Amino acid sequence: MKQNYEKPIIKKLQTGLMNKFSRSPAYARKVRAEIDGVTIDDLVARHGSPLFVYSERTLRQKHRQMHTAFSTRYPNVVMGWSYKTNYLGAICAIMHQQGSIAEVVSAMEYQKARAYGIPGEKIIFNGPHKSLAALEIAVREGAMINVDHLDEIYDLEQIAQRFKRQIHIGIRLNLDSGIHPQWSRFGFNLETGQALEAVKRIKQGGKLILNGLHCHIGTFIMETSAYARQIEKMVGFAYEVEQAFGFSMEYLDIGGGFPSKSRLKGVYLPPEVALPSVDEFAETITHALSKALRPGDFPKLILESGRALVDEAGYLISTVVASKRLADGTRAYVADAGVNLLFTAYWYKFNIEMDREVGGINEHSIVYGPLCMNIDVTDEGVPLPPLTRGTRLIFSPVGAYSQTQSMQFIEYRPACVLIGEHGQVDLIREPEDLSDITRRERLPERLVNGGK
Ligand SMILES: Cc1ncc(COP(=O)(O)O)c(C=O)c1O
Repeated sequence: MKQNYEKPIIKKLQTGLMNKFSRSPAYARKVRAEIDGVTIDDLVARHGSPLFVYSERTLRQKHRQMHTAFSTRYPNVVMGWSYKTNYLGAICAIMHQQGSIAEVVSAMEYQKARAYGIPGEKIIFNGPHKSLAALEIAVREGAMINVDHLDEIYDLEQIAQRFKRQIHIGIRLNLDSGIHPQWSRFGFNLETGQALEAVKRIKQGGKLILNGLHCHIGTFIMETSAYARQIEKMVGFAYEVEQAFGFSMEYLDIGGGFPSKSRLKGVYLPPEVALPSVDEFAETITHALSKALRPGDFPKLILESGRALVDEAGYLISTVVASKRLADGTRAYVADAGVNLLFTAYWYKFNIEMDREVGGINEHSIVYGPLCMNIDVTDEGVPLPPLTRGTRLIFSPVGAYSQTQSMQFIEYRPACVLIGEHGQVDLIREPEDLSDITRRERLPERLVNGGK
């Protein structure tokens, strides 16, 4: 077969040398020919590239594992599926079938949960922006509302006045759990006394009844001890509030934040070594609860885990469309998927696998996408053999946040498929076309036909 001509260059290859952490092997290959028994070829032939692929088996297994880890250690556990992590209808349906209620952070997500048939009382409504109209619906439908700021308290009091009844609410706390940077923008700060002031205000208003505490300390938390500190502070606050104001807490919502087996940039140990297991999180959290709670007290423990449940169930198949050498000699590959679909590439170093065996020595390469912008890099310094056009690159784990944060910037968003537990492949989101981009646009009459 005739080979494409490429001007020769002299470049020192670093492969095979030791670095501080490991050897960078010259011939190591990461090959993935299938996902849950369905070949990459088959998936792409049927649904095109790029393609988001989700494994129902992994989703259900992760959910079962987390539920078991907590419910075997504590008697009153509720899981709330964090919609923002992935709100594709099929994904939410699986989470709800497994027993999760919905956790939403905007009116749009609230509407989504309702459209999927989730009743208001099975929705946790979080987030810093809840319009008066959205709050009113949530109150009418009995949602669990966790208040973010004082203005929301005033809005809820107004609604209570209009509805001529008291409204049950939770408040979101932010606190120092030892995790930095501290997520201090959401809710009321505990250590400065702001949270206690808010409860005082709620009591004085007389229109709201505080019955829950919420706190989400951050995402991809790698230390179980942070949750122990969080629990100790939340329970301490709950009892302080009970004593001072007579409100008793029916639930402690500890948010999400457990890590998936992904590789955060700057963390050199592999996830299997660097990250605690779900059982370790469960053990620390339930132990902290049993230490802090009064004997016989078992408030509802709400978990809002997102990435730990869905991340490893998601893959993105993409295709190498070109290879080139950059001016400094770096081997570069252009793929049909970039940060438009993998926004999370800025923080995580994904596993990149090829759909086939490829010969040749590895070279540290850069992989970039179709966006025609310098920032569109999905990985760099990744050891890859010489790839030809058409090679599929499979990125994982990308089930969390990638699809919900994907954008339509200069490209359509691709299809999403779900591989069922028996290997059936279902289309769960159609690929977009021009009508998805232009449907909401309006052209003033004077500009029709280019204004001629
Ligand atoms: C309030 C709240 N709950 C839950 C989550 C899910 O977090 P994670 O995906 O880290 O589990 C988030 C994510 O930011 C959140 O803001």
